[in-house]
Amino acid sequence: MTHTPLTRSPADRPEGPGRPAVEPVVEPLVGSVVDPAVEPVVFPQDRTCPYQPPAGYEPLRRGRPLSRVSLFDGRGVWVVTGHGAARELLADPRLSSDRTLPAFPAVTERFAAARNRRIALLGLDDPEHHVQRRLLVPSFTLKRIAALRPRIQETVDGLLDRMAGQGPHAELVNDFALPVPSMVICALLGVPYGDHEFFEAQSRRLLRGPDAADIEDARDQLDAYFGTLIDRKEKEPGDGLLDELVRDQLREGKVDREELVSLATILLVAGHETTANMISLGTFTLLRHPEHLAELVAEPALMPAAVEELLRFLSITDGLLRVAVRDIEIAGATIHEGDGVVFSTSVINRDEQAFPEPDALDWQRPARHPSARHHVAFGFGIHQCLGQNLARAEMEIALRSLFDRFPGLRLAVPADTVPFKPGDTIQGMLELPVTW
Ligand code: HEM
Repeated sequence: MTHTPLTRSPADRPEGPGRPAVEPVVEPLVGSVVDPAVEPVVFPQDRTCPYQPPAGYEPLRRGRPLSRVSLFDGRGVWVVTGHGAARELLADPRLSSDRTLPAFPAVTERFAAARNRRIALLGLDDPEHHVQRRLLVPSFTLKRIAALRPRIQETVDGLLDRMAGQGPHAELVNDFALPVPSMVICALLGVPYGDHEFFEAQSRRLLRGPDAADIEDARDQLDAYFGTLIDRKEKEPGDGLLDELVRDQLREGKVDREELVSLATILLVAGHETTANMISLGTFTLLRHPEHLAELVAEPALMPAAVEELLRFLSITDGLLRVAVRDIEIAGATIHEGDGVVFSTSVINRDEQAFPEPDALDWQRPARHPSARHHVAFGFGIHQCLGQNLARAEMEIALRSLFDRFPGLRLAVPADTVPFKPGDTIQGMLELPVTW
């Protein structure tokens, strides 16, 4: 079967009045003519409103299910924007997650320079990935997480008590959204929460460090930290997941020390950074949608559906990365071996084919359209978020308890002055000043 190539050589490209000298990067799929009015879309871009996809991604909706974007270095990669294509491709073993492959795409210069080390789980393909994942799955089942709920509630209540005692003002990111998942993941892993300032700072550098040297240094510091912690656990075992892994896997020679250090790092970083952003951005979004908030307060049983809808609507991990290790034909296009592929979860999760009226926030959506649960906010396929049950439980308990305790919660500053994170990292609020 032959396909019309998606990129044309400069020789076929007519230039002249009305035609840009540089070919637009977003190209309609097979058989159509490149629209000279279409500006190249650069990926990633900053959001203009913290709970909406960047306004600059609008042309990508028209390019569904996949089109081309340009990265910071001018490299053209595929961007997947259709829900069906995303689920198909995220489950396709011909796309690799191995960040050490030379063709693996990077969304910023600093990440391009800092990807020489293997990352546990997230950076591995099967079968290696499967071996690591199997070690961890039993600790994140619905049943195990349900048993953690009282502990999560206790953590949340303690933080809300402290806020109430210091009120009526708070900075919600540092006083609540970050400590909730940070304390919970520490308890689950068996990491001393007393060290939270250290590892929260290193996680921030790992995700948003100013340059490659900074990111490398943050990794070295976390490696050294977990190396020492694992030594200690070998001598004095505790009852966290890391203690279990030391006892059952490291001592038995089923994982090596370097692998365990890398697993500990990813669990700790993924376990607090993401959920913290969902809690801060979720709170901001609810405060900006008072009628939706009122519905939730009146009917708390809606909270699990609301969390699911907020996950879809906010799509905080916008830009999952892969590289093709074989040619893939999809939607009339060929993704060639060596091509970079980016999944824009914010655009995928607003695909009207899968989510009618995708731009509306609707707590009834999961009940009316059971497929609405198939959003890709937690990814899909072998790397689908390991901590999703935990994240859902934390969000439900945190948001419900926050608005129960402070029914008059409101922003302490004008909404358009509240700072939020840039587009090249996990989306969320940098600060959230509130009062009640
Ligand atoms: C609302 C919060 C969260 C969001 C939005 C989120 C999102 C994601 C996404 C999109 C992926 C897939 C990445 C990819 O395919 O490239 C992922 C993977 C992962 N997440 Fe989460 N996550 C959240 C919370 C958590 C928590 C609480 C943990 C706790 C340990 C966690 C641990 C992981 C791990 C270990 C992976 C890698 C899984 C694998 O490669 O097999 N996440 N997450």
